[in-house]
Amino acid sequence: MQTVLVVGGAGYIGSHTCMMLADRGYRPVVYDDLSSGHADFVQWGALEVGDVGDRRRLEAVIRHHAPVAVFHLAALTGVGESMLDPLSTYRANVANAIELLAAMRATGIDKLVFASSCAVFGPADRLPLVEDHPRRPISPYGRSKAMIEEVLEDLGRSGALRSVSLRFFNAAGADPKGRIGERHRPETHLIPVAIEAALGDRANFQVFGEDYETRDGTCLRDYVHVLDLADAFVRALEHLMAGGETLAVNLGREEGTTVREVLASIERVSGRTVPVARAPRRPGDPAALTACAARARAVLGWTSRYDLDAIVRSAFDWHLRERKRRDAAG
Ligand SMILES: NC(=O)c1ccc[n+]([C@@H]2O[C@H](COP(=O)([O-])OP(=O)(O)OC[C@H]3O[C@@H](n4cnc5c(N)ncnc54)[C@H](O)[C@@H]3O)[C@@H](O)[C@H]2O)c1
Repeated sequence: MQTVLVVGGAGYIGSHTCMMLADRGYRPVVYDDLSSGHADFVQWGALEVGDVGDRRRLEAVIRHHAPVAVFHLAALTGVGESMLDPLSTYRANVANAIELLAAMRATGIDKLVFASSCAVFGPADRLPLVEDHPRRPISPYGRSKAMIEEVLEDLGRSGALRSVSLRFFNAAGADPKGRIGERHRPETHLIPVAIEAALGDRANFQVFGEDYETRDGTCLRDYVHVLDLADAFVRALEHLMAGGETLAVNLGREEGTTVREVLASIERVSGRTVPVARAPRRPGDPAALTACAARARAVLGWTSRYDLDAIVRSAFDWHLRERKRRDAAG
């Protein structure tokens, strides 16, 4: 059985990726400092607690488990936070990633799959976004991801390491069996926040701006099931194992969904009403963002399998279970 080191594997996307790895016959080993991840999400392999910035520990863990490749998902993920405290974001997302790459180099591991983001693009000239669209990120978070993509391109050219940068758009949904799901504290992502409002765990759901140039005036985004993203990690690994080149791919359903359409899906799936409050536009929110997934299809054979209602249903079921668990724990 081949081992893959999943850095940040106790987090939301990382834990679903470990589940998918195990499903496809790999042995995931999680390296995570549990700063925003959860030990109970690590169910498919060993957990090594450690900081990505701790290169000596990383090297020891890599030598011990001898992975064929590394998946890197550990990061500070807040765009707003990155504006308030850019240095912390650059340290976590750039300096730590360099330490990880140095540890891989020192231990002879030369394949990496990197969790990147559509935030590398900044304002879109045209939609859907293709991979070669210029990178003009507008936040330290987006810049930190773009910087690492460039480092990875240089390493690819130098022959030192091959990689796939997976650019996620909006990750959502949960394991349909309810073992793991989205547990961010505080939660800022749209679908879980709207579900919390539907369940009465928050007073209402704020719709930021209803005067965008979209079909119903609210922002339009590309929501992808977390299991589709996990599937892309395994396909990217297999691309690299087969000798494939360094590349970046956009991962989306290519079908934009507005905020109003997400709320309608939640109401359909849950049979509950989402209480809504109108709020002004937030600075920096583009009207629409959608991915062109043609490269992921062509090179990785990837397509999304879950539609919006399937995403929302799995997220809703997960939130109900979380609520029961919290209630039982008092
Ligand atoms: N969730 C999304 O919609 C989305 C969209 C685009 C990109 N991404 C990227 O995907 C990745 C995973 O996102 P997520 O939503 O699962 O986030 P998450 O916070 O749930 O997971 C990140 C994991 O990394 C760990 N971590 C953070 N700093 C660490 C450190 N210094 N050392 C060791 N472990 C550390 C955390 O404990 C956590 O388990 C991130 O790189 C994020 O930028 C996420």
